[in-house]
Amino acid sequence: MLDAGRTEETLLEVNNIEVIYNHVILVLKGVSLSVPKGGITALLGGNGAGKTTTLKAISNLLHSERGEVTKGSINYRGEPIAELDPASLVKKGVIQVMEGRHCFEHLTVEENLLTGAYTRGGDIAADLEMVYNYFPRLKERRKSQAGYTSGGEQQMVAIGRALMSKPECILLDEPSMGLAPQLVEEIFGIVKDLNEKEGATFLLAEQNTNVALRFAHYGYILESGRVVMDGPAAELRENPDVKEFYLGMSDDGRKSFRDVRSYRRRKRWLS
Ligand SMILES: Nc1ncnc2c1ncn2[C@@H]1O[C@H](COP(=O)(O)OP(=O)(O)OP(=O)(O)O)[C@@H](O)[C@H]1O
Ligand SMILES: [Mg+2]
Repeated sequence: MLDAGRTEETLLEVNNIEVIYNHVILVLKGVSLSVPKGGITALLGGNGAGKTTTLKAISNLLHSERGEVTKGSINYRGEPIAELDPASLVKKGVIQVMEGRHCFEHLTVEENLLTGAYTRGGDIAADLEMVYNYFPRLKERRKSQAGYTSGGEQQMVAIGRALMSKPECILLDEPSMGLAPQLVEEIFGIVKDLNEKEGATFLLAEQNTNVALRFAHYGYILESGRVVMDGPAAELRENPDVKEFYLGMSDDGRKSFRDVRSYRRRKRWLS
């Protein structure tokens, strides 16, 4: 069963992409995923798994990092988007909120939000109100210099600024990073609200598997540049391997799927 608001329509499709940095470092080794309209899709995995690289490949931000998609294709609403620059993508309705909550530190909270509206016209005052409605804290701090607000507030500014472009699909990189658990809950709660009330589609990269699988509809688990498992979030939450390796429900610490595979191989050799 699909949750309310979700449809079978696929917005974003990543087909078997390979990404190489500096001409030699192969980081993504054939990643495929699909993001349904109106859903929250989680891209999970530990440090260096390739989550950020996947998001940057989608929004065409790899060039500045000497990275390149060398194989595969990326489609939005069935059309290839590999040649589109970030501004054209925003016009199509796709926007990325970068890892590390980038704000313009010397601008006020409100000025930061207004920079998000630059690519389009429309009723900017109404959009600001919409953002303040979801982030009442930002309304309270609208005149404060962004650099002096808390980490959680800066993450809200980064998401709020993206909302000002009226996106259809938001690529959200590691929203929980460096935030206290209560704030992580608050931010994910807002993501869920935006999804349910505004119909916003999310692809979110997260190391925090536990939180992400509680709020997402579907998840992909990346390890060393490959999708090692995917499924509805409710199924992944109950999967014994996911529980053991990503939800910290094992006594002997975190392992990787690769360890399991080599362990099984070893066992075969021994038996
Ligand atoms: N500009 C770059 N040049 C070379 N290698 C890079 C570059 N950016 C990332 N990498 C490498 O690519 C791999 C994937 O990195 P990526 O940032 O996509 O992982 P991630 O899943 O987002 O990790 P994290 O959870 O730590 O943010 C890592 O091994 C990283 O060292
Ligand atoms: Mg990352």
